[in-house]
Amino acid sequence: MRVGDNSILGREAVVDNREHSYSQAFKQIAKAVNSLLPLNNVLNSAAKSTAKALKAAGCSIMLLNPQREHLDIIAAYGLSDIYLRKGALKASKSLPEVLDGKMIAIFDVTQDKRAQYPEAAEMERISSVLAAPIPQKGEVIGEIRIYTREPRQFSQADKNFLATIADIVAIALEKTELYQVLKTEHEETVTQRRRLAETPKLPSSSLRPSSFGHSSEGEFAKLLDFYRIEWLYEPRSFPLAWQDNKVTEMFTPDFYLPELDLYIELTTLKQSLITEKNRKLRRLREVYPEINIKLLNKSDYLRLLAKYGYGHLGGTKVEGIDHILFSHTQIQRRVKALAKRISRDYVGRKLILIGILRGVICFMSDLMQHTTLPLTVDFMSISYYGTDNESAVKITKDLDTSIAGLDVLMVEDIVDTGMTLNYVLNHLASHNPASLRVCTLLDKRVRRLIDVPLDYIGFEIPDEFVVGYGLDYHGEYRNLPFIGALNPELIEDEGKK
Ligand code: IMP
Ligand code: MG
Repeated sequence: MRVGDNSILGREAVVDNREHSYSQAFKQIAKAVNSLLPLNNVLNSAAKSTAKALKAAGCSIMLLNPQREHLDIIAAYGLSDIYLRKGALKASKSLPEVLDGKMIAIFDVTQDKRAQYPEAAEMERISSVLAAPIPQKGEVIGEIRIYTREPRQFSQADKNFLATIADIVAIALEKTELYQVLKTEHEETVTQRRRLAETPKLPSSSLRPSSFGHSSEGEFAKLLDFYRIEWLYEPRSFPLAWQDNKVTEMFTPDFYLPELDLYIELTTLKQSLITEKNRKLRRLREVYPEINIKLLNKSDYLRLLAKYGYGHLGGTKVEGIDHILFSHTQIQRRVKALAKRISRDYVGRKLILIGILRGVICFMSDLMQHTTLPLTVDFMSISYYGTDNESAVKITKDLDTSIAGLDVLMVEDIVDTGMTLNYVLNHLASHNPASLRVCTLLDKRVRRLIDVPLDYIGFEIPDEFVVGYGLDYHGEYRNLPFIGALNPELIEDEGKK
């Protein structure tokens, strides 16, 4: 069917065809904008879809520099490198009306004085150009142009389409900006919180001594810091003996651990010192029966920490861990609380827990053991594969059992961008479960790109790469009993997968 065909049927077919290619383009562009792809990939893909939908030879997307003097090409399709590097586009010389908010169509760019580089256009075999402003918050921030080889009178439909694309590009740009702002704000809060956490609650000299009475005290303090156990150094002196209302003997324990409500006096293996300290502790317990105090040497305190789920690591790989986010005890406490809620919420239902291998193994194991209901479990495996422009999720092991009519609780170790969960939820929803909800141990909300509903959340965490308790980095660290953040310098640019 020729475009110029006069028959009614012919015109309908042309319109139909055009609508089809427009809606294809919208679909592709919207998907790219709503993806986790970097902005330049999103915009390059938008340029390509736009050019194809309008049957144009090329497309470029440009932004005004902050001084609004020239236009920088930030994405393009179908244009040669030579053309793209033809020289700076002066805002005042290259189709200046576009920057006033007008759409401009040029029939023959090699002859039009509004074009800044007619020779370059001729070399590129460009005839016509259609340019639309990119509006944002009532201001033009750049423009999108399409280029055709054959001279063309652009239709109203062409113009409307390009104006809509310009709006979508503006949204993509704003989304990236908002994300950057959120990220910076979040990073600021995290640093601020860290700084606050380091601020002693009592006069600093007594709490964070620049030097300790004994090197073992410094070592102990470092260990406590590593495990994020709060500590105070020599916070209180206990009078032990009096004569005529005057204190004749005092005892000042080395540390107080508020989380464990425990005073600690460190000792070495020197027997004379141990005997003297033991006498004082006995006296202290007599006078202050409500006070918990322990006399510990190094192997004692290592054993004590192990009892609370800290330490006991033997040869487990810990190098590369920058700091601990959640200790074993904290995780256990939280998982029990989640299991309790789930046990309450699913009474009388047909509960099946579904996990994605392998990160979820520890969490799934603890969660199911603390859930006091009849239930079944099943697992899926997925893999990620990516090409330049797209990254996608693929199921490599599907469920072994049917979930039709069951109450599915998807158990996840961590939700980051939300891409994985979104994909898996769609997959599960198509198998007619009676209900479908999500329980995740960790929620890295600042990185979310797809909004997925989370019904049970263990902990919200900042934008840090975390390992341990099932979570890995290149297969390692899964067997750590706690969750720690990896030193960011160790993480390669290719990211998490
Ligand atoms: P999403 O698709 O971006 O939400 O990523 C989810 C998956 O990425 C998780 O199930 C993990 O396997 C992995 N992942 C994301 N962030 C981390 C992390 O900080 N440590 C370990 N694995 C992670
Ligand atoms: Mg996972």
